[in-house]
Amino acid sequence: MLKKEKPPKAIIVTSLYGMSSDMDAIGSFASKYNVKLIEDSAEALGGAYRNEKLSTIGDYGILSFNLNKIITTAGGGILVVNSIEEKQKVLHLATQAKTNLPYYHHDTLGYNYRLGHINAALGVIQFKELEYNLKKRKANHKFYEELFQHISGIYVHKEPDSHFISNHWLSAILVDPSKTGGITREDIRLSLEKDNIESRPLWKPMHMQPLYKDYPYYGNKVCETLFENGLCLPSGSNLTNEDRERITNSINQIFDK
Ligand SMILES: Cc1ncc(COP(=O)(O)O)c(C=O)c1O
Repeated sequence: MLKKEKPPKAIIVTSLYGMSSDMDAIGSFASKYNVKLIEDSAEALGGAYRNEKLSTIGDYGILSFNLNKIITTAGGGILVVNSIEEKQKVLHLATQAKTNLPYYHHDTLGYNYRLGHINAALGVIQFKELEYNLKKRKANHKFYEELFQHISGIYVHKEPDSHFISNHWLSAILVDPSKTGGITREDIRLSLEKDNIESRPLWKPMHMQPLYKDYPYYGNKVCETLFENGLCLPSGSNLTNEDRERITNSINQIFDK
């Protein structure tokens, strides 16, 4: 039910760490109130929901090819639209709204949002590796599931049911200190750091960012709790067996196994 008179202009739904949100629930809300649905699939290339690739479900979708993504063009990304007309409009706006005249003539406000050709070429080549990289990420996820299966109080972020296909961009855990004997997310992070293994808290929620401190926030502290207790673990496509052994030893030391 809407608590405000007007619905928002758009919903931006993020597939965090490559995992889809419940697109049925969010999609039906969006269509009920006629709100545009924008999929932030920056992290989710290759993931799917009910057999539809993430970024192609909403009215618009975005994919990022930033340096830390499964495929990188060293920066930039893709906007996915639903029609040729939208594509032309977007390309026009992304090319400084220049018209096809022999002199510079801008018929509206545009920007330079193009992906450079050389960057695009890097991306095209890497698409051949996508399936391979997805397999590697999935293997990382399986490794963490096995590593933590007998450690109580650690929940590995996984697909809730078969409608969800994550690309497992990053493998993440939630730590429940009431079940780990008091061991917190930060204890694990610092302990891994001592062994020169990088891990990071889950994303800091937007409303906790200083920039947005004066803006209204609607919610019931779910994301704060995730931020406090969640940890992203080493998840690169190039994680080796030796890396896994180091991670295993380090984690087992924390949990005294
Ligand atoms: C969920 C999400 N949205 C948007 C972005 C921004 O993408 P880019 O770095 O390509 O601008 C990122 C990260 O890079 C992200 O993880």
